[in-house]
Amino acid sequence: MTEQAPAAYAGKRRVLSGVKPTGDLHLGNYLGALVKFTRMQHEAETFIFVADLHAITEWQDPAKLTAQTREIAAAYLAAGLDPKIATIFPQSAVTEHAELAWIFNCVARVGWLDRMTQFKDKSGKNKEKASVGLYTYPVLQAADILLYKATHVPVGDDQKQHVELTRDIAAKFNHDFDAPGYFPLPEPIHQGAGARIMSLRDASEKMSKSNPSDAARINLTDDADAVAQKIRKAKTDPLPLPETVDELKDRPEAQNLVGIYAALDGRTSAEVLTEFAGEGFGAFKPRLADLAVAKLGPVGTEMRRLMADPAEIDKVLAAGAERARAAAAPTLAEVKKLVGFWGA
Ligand code: TRP
Repeated sequence: MTEQAPAAYAGKRRVLSGVKPTGDLHLGNYLGALVKFTRMQHEAETFIFVADLHAITEWQDPAKLTAQTREIAAAYLAAGLDPKIATIFPQSAVTEHAELAWIFNCVARVGWLDRMTQFKDKSGKNKEKASVGLYTYPVLQAADILLYKATHVPVGDDQKQHVELTRDIAAKFNHDFDAPGYFPLPEPIHQGAGARIMSLRDASEKMSKSNPSDAARINLTDDADAVAQKIRKAKTDPLPLPETVDELKDRPEAQNLVGIYAALDGRTSAEVLTEFAGEGFGAFKPRLADLAVAKLGPVGTEMRRLMADPAEIDKVLAAGAERARAAAAPTLAEVKKLVGFWGA
């Protein structure tokens, strides 16, 4: 995968992505999503939203949903997204998302959704009890992306299938309504280094907000002591660090910690090993803890400052929603016309 724009889109890249407000943000979100968004805002027109419509596919406490929506917005800002450059907004404030999703529900096929692995994973054995929204979740995601005619979608591995579905929906819409090329076929931008930050307790699992053990992740709001302690207690093996990345292959915990160091420091794992080869974790972990505290400390501080001032966050979200609506409304109007709705 590449972060380079295909030639056809050169000059008119539009990037869009979102994060669900369903739990505390952690280091994996920070390195895998927020830092990348922050970089991309300088390379393309960038739309970054808080995916609150997606959040309620599983029940959310209403007061928490509001608070967590502001928290994600605070994290975007603290990580360096600039609301003067990027459009930052809550998904539900732009009602065109839900409207386009309905039309796409009538374009997408049941067979396509039946193949979505995330629904299978999330609904588990209890499919009958899952919300209908959880099933059509990827259709709403397609609407998020195509409403803005986004060309590039930075997502983790687990979301690539949804971007592929988005392409299928775009192509079928263009075909069914005789509008060749109307919707672009978006490309997933795979997040590369830093995309797979694993649990500190079990390196076979992704670092995740749903893991019951808080020690498995570093939250953006953890203070310096908590960060240092979690790194000190992170699972490792007794061997010293090797000279090459290849030798990390069968050492998932070591690979994860070296990867975290590299991502935080904007270096490759190979470069990190050049510095630390031969050292044990007793030496490496304190260095990693210092680096993590140095990089995340200011982000957490800024998040806490913003969260203490919800009015400032709300101002950003309201202005972003207005800008997003201005971009979304023409698309929806055109789509309604293409579909043949009265008055469109
Ligand atoms: N489903 C994404 C996730 O869980 C969040 C999301 C919703 C998203 N809509 C999107 C990501 C559109 C990219 C583009 O991470």
